[in-house]
Amino acid sequence: MRKKIVAGNWKMNTTVAEGVQLAKNIVEKVKEIPSDVTLVVAPPFTHLVSVANEIKGTDIQLSAQNCANQPKGAFTGEVAAAMLKDAGCAYTILGHSERREYYGETSATLVEKVNLAFASGLKVIFCVGEKLDERNAGKHFEVVGKQIEEVLFTLSEEQMANVVIAYEPVWAIGTGVTATSEQAQEIHAFIRKFVADKFGAKVAENTTILYGGSCKPSNAKELFACKDIDGGLIGGASLKAEDFVAIAKSY
Ligand code: PGA
Repeated sequence: MRKKIVAGNWKMNTTVAEGVQLAKNIVEKVKEIPSDVTLVVAPPFTHLVSVANEIKGTDIQLSAQNCANQPKGAFTGEVAAAMLKDAGCAYTILGHSERREYYGETSATLVEKVNLAFASGLKVIFCVGEKLDERNAGKHFEVVGKQIEEVLFTLSEEQMANVVIAYEPVWAIGTGVTATSEQAQEIHAFIRKFVADKFGAKVAENTTILYGGSCKPSNAKELFACKDIDGGLIGGASLKAEDFVAIAKSY
């Protein structure tokens, strides 16, 4: 049985004190969430150790938002996967569209990062998604397929057990425009089939596929009711404990 996950991507928001308070507020409400839903929070690097302390003893998991493509050494400004594991992370997000778009992250770099994350014992939330012009040109299957093929298809079946895929159409991220449940289900089913064709039906059935992009309490229920949507990667709405928990309660 694949895991249901609701993950909060805090992006570059909150001070340490605000982040700790947000984590506290989430911990207070975690009992309201169905027991088969795992909550993940992904604060900025500077907050990880403090947030790890807040969520200790709960089932909430900690994630980073990125990691370096080098294991250690003279790489000023970078944070290694092993450091993230040491800080208490269970996951790291990789390949978020903002990293691809603003920091030139390529599939080649992502292959290095994914492997370093695994070598450090982290699981990976791997983001894919098409831009608006690609969707309008009917190229979304092709684009998402290529993003998956270039990175995830280099992995072994065993490694795939440590991958969560997040489908995030770029046109829906932070825009208030959400993919309809039909659009989301259609591409989630495509992703699962694509994974099945490469790794077999069992791996595909066990792969958690999250939807991300303006997911909020008012639309989560409809999205999460879809057969191939196993939860969400939540940006803006994860910065309010009430909304984040309400989304997780939508199951
Ligand atoms: P959003 O961001 O929920 O603010 O649209 C989602 C994401 O980028 O992970």
